[in-house]
Amino acid sequence: MKLAIGICIWAILATVTSQSAVPSDKNLPGERGKNGDLFYIELEGSDPVDMTKEQVDDLITKGKHFIDLTNVRSHSQLKYERTALKDNAKATIALDYPKEIRSQEQAQPIIDKLSPDVMREFLNHFTSFTNRYARSSHGAKSAEWLYEYVTKISSGASNGLQVTVSKESHRNLTQPSIIARIPGQGNLVDEIVIIGAHQDSINSTDKENGRAPGADDDGSGSATVVEIFRRLVEARYQPSRTLEFHWYAGEEVGLVGSLDVATKYQKEAKNVYAMLQFDMTGYVPTGHENTMGLVTDNVNAELNEFLKIAATAYTNLKVIPFACGYRCSDHASWNRTGFPSTFPIESDVAKNNSYIHTENDTMDHLNFDHMLEFAKLGVGFAVELAGEGS
Ligand SMILES: *[C@@H]1O[C@H](CO)[C@@H](O)[C@H](O)[C@H]1NC(C)=O
Ligand SMILES: *[C@@H]1O[C@H](CO)[C@@H](O)[C@H](O)[C@H]1NC(C)=O
Ligand SMILES: *[C@@H]1O[C@H](CO)[C@@H](O)[C@H](O)[C@H]1NC(C)=O
Ligand SMILES: *[C@@H]1O[C@H](CO)[C@@H](O)[C@H](O)[C@H]1NC(C)=O
Ligand SMILES: *[C@@H]1O[C@H](CO)[C@@H](O)[C@H](O)[C@H]1NC(C)=O
Repeated sequence: MKLAIGICIWAILATVTSQSAVPSDKNLPGERGKNGDLFYIELEGSDPVDMTKEQVDDLITKGKHFIDLTNVRSHSQLKYERTALKDNAKATIALDYPKEIRSQEQAQPIIDKLSPDVMREFLNHFTSFTNRYARSSHGAKSAEWLYEYVTKISSGASNGLQVTVSKESHRNLTQPSIIARIPGQGNLVDEIVIIGAHQDSINSTDKENGRAPGADDDGSGSATVVEIFRRLVEARYQPSRTLEFHWYAGEEVGLVGSLDVATKYQKEAKNVYAMLQFDMTGYVPTGHENTMGLVTDNVNAELNEFLKIAATAYTNLKVIPFACGYRCSDHASWNRTGFPSTFPIESDVAKNNSYIHTENDTMDHLNFDHMLEFAKLGVGFAVELAGEGS
């Protein structure tokens, strides 16, 4: 029934599109480029259209926000109609989050081990690649280094903790996403708690070869997730729900990595209990000290309520809600596929860091004590939502 209506709507859309963007072509929108010669791009407020790589690069240069649906176009296209967000059936059980903090005793010793200096050391190397652009050889190299780094942390696991690290490759990217997993134990193992960041960086004027240290965007989030993962493994933390740590490829080229991963999880009917995105945790604009922006769009309202409680308990930051805008980060891919996501960010004026996407997004503009607060929040989030008390 739903399907029949869906096909009908799609047919109407196809007719409309064939009169404008895709002349003389009776195929469905997006079919024209399905062999990979064109990208299937959605801009804010419009239905997706086929574009050449040059057109996509031009969007990036101009700072236009878009989502690249190329790799997921064959998967249930209707799910990507901007007007018809489909809630994942499995996600309905996930809306019951704790109304209070219950695991601080367990989390605190792990939090006490978090180190700004170790995050700095990580980021020092991570920003040293020419760039981490998801379609460049540099972005492939930085991903390989990150994979080895995370694998090394996981190999320190002991006491029967079965930590795994894997790569997810993406069509038309040289850079894979990286996923580390600490499996849960007991009857909640099939429920997943995800903490993510994006590993790619971008130089808006010379994407493939220009310098893009990406210290804040999103080296800071990547470093924050690495540090949370490191300390949980080191503490031999055994969750009840399965804990995953994601470093996405290709956020800057249209959320490609996270959308691939989220779509795969949706297809496999995986049950994501909560997803938290860290994208920029280290830049503190003058006059906005000790604040945390809490993104209010493309997120789950109930999960946001929990995040406020967790931020109050685990950090010294004042939570200030604000709307981040269309496709602002990878949380949107999870929201788009019907999973509950949340997105705390470095300040309530997060777009204020004018160095991002340039050669000047460097570590000297970051505040590692501020990043530490986000790492504390991440450990709290993991232990409260995936822990024994769950
Ligand atoms: C994307 O990848 C496909 C398959 O590898 C390839 O045929 C195609 O040329 C690529 N598209 C672009 C625009 O690079
Ligand atoms: C996705 O985002 C919208 C808008 O912020 C929100 O209303 C919806 O509940 C979110 N979906 C899920 C599954 O959390
Ligand atoms: C961003 O920072 C500049 C100083 O670098 C400041 O003048 C401006 O008001 C800030 N913008 C916002 C939106 O806070
Ligand atoms: C991109 O990189 C080049 C070469 O490293 C540099 O000259 C240019 O300023 C960079 N562009 C931006 C926006 O930072
Ligand atoms: C980066 O900073 C240097 C030194 O302040 C400046 O000369 C250069 O123009 C900046 N680059 C960009 C792309 O803003």
